[in-house]
Amino acid sequence: MIEQLKEIEKTALEEISGAEDHNSLNDLRVRYLGRKGEITAVLRSMGQQPPEERPVIGQKANELKDKIEQLLREKENQLKEESRREAWEKEKIDVTLPGKPLFRGRLHPLTLISEEIKDIFTGLGFRVAEGPEIETDYYNFEALNMPPDHPARDMQDSFYFTSDILLRTHTSPVQIRVMEKETPQIPVRIIAPGKVYRRDDDVTHSPMFHQIEGLAVDRGITFADLKGVLLHFAREMFGENQKIRLRPSFFPFTEPSAEVDIYCVSCGGEGCRVCSHTGWLEILGAGMVHPRVLEVSGYSPEEVTGFAFGMGVDRVAMLKYGINDIRLFYTNDYRMLRQF
Ligand code: FA5
Repeated sequence: MIEQLKEIEKTALEEISGAEDHNSLNDLRVRYLGRKGEITAVLRSMGQQPPEERPVIGQKANELKDKIEQLLREKENQLKEESRREAWEKEKIDVTLPGKPLFRGRLHPLTLISEEIKDIFTGLGFRVAEGPEIETDYYNFEALNMPPDHPARDMQDSFYFTSDILLRTHTSPVQIRVMEKETPQIPVRIIAPGKVYRRDDDVTHSPMFHQIEGLAVDRGITFADLKGVLLHFAREMFGENQKIRLRPSFFPFTEPSAEVDIYCVSCGGEGCRVCSHTGWLEILGAGMVHPRVLEVSGYSPEEVTGFAFGMGVDRVAMLKYGINDIRLFYTNDYRMLRQF
């Protein structure tokens, strides 16, 4: 029996020190110390031994049991320590590795351009005004001298909620809202930036786009003031040699009216996709405020005159940044937006 215990001790020591993980240590614990384990078997079979040998065998078996328990504990700790060290080595930070790039948010190109346009006009004494994007027919059309049968009110061109309420098709209704509030004070000098909506969709037309309305009302304002302000704007925005072109046009709420083109910065006037190969890109409509519009807003056309303009912000941004498709502003492709 004593021989058998020595044999058990020898193999147990070898196996415990060779164990590679917690599972195999557990198996060994069961094999030697478990209820059906090898040492338990020795203790159980002691009854068959001569009585005088029993205490010696019992003592040796218990000593071996303690010894194996202690070895298992030590091995267990050693394995734990090893796996901790391994995890730590994996976690170690290599300060020489390049860092992960952090993506920083940035302002949308249309926001940047709007800010720039606002700065130029506030520098001339204009103040910023706002109006609602959901407008009534009265402010969007009627007060602007567009009676119910006017073609610009066509259902095909505008987004209506009801026959009387729609998404504004331009920022001009802000003219009326401001004058109604300000009358009879002069001078009125405002710009009104905001989103507008139309059933348009191609490389230079988007169904939602941005305009900045301008309005100046005072005694003795002339068309020359309008032209001077717009030329100043074009030079501030695109450089001091920038040329503008005024073409006679028609708007029901201005008389006379003009459309204003900017010499295409994108191709230097040679003709490209941005300017539809004409060398010029239309950026705004403008004119002298129609006497009837002054009147419905509470001003007397006998005493004051005014000019107004409505600028396409997206078009200005296309020219400034050389972007040849307006839809790029709205597809939210980060590769395009991150350049600004
Ligand atoms: C108007 O909207 C007038 N309210 C402008 C105005 C204001 C005239 C005050 C007189 C006095 P128009 O529809 O032409 O006019 O649009 C003005 C500018 O908005 C255009 O010159 C163009 O630059 C821009 N624009 C028009 N439609 C779109 C569109 N679908 N997408 C992008 N820009 C557009």
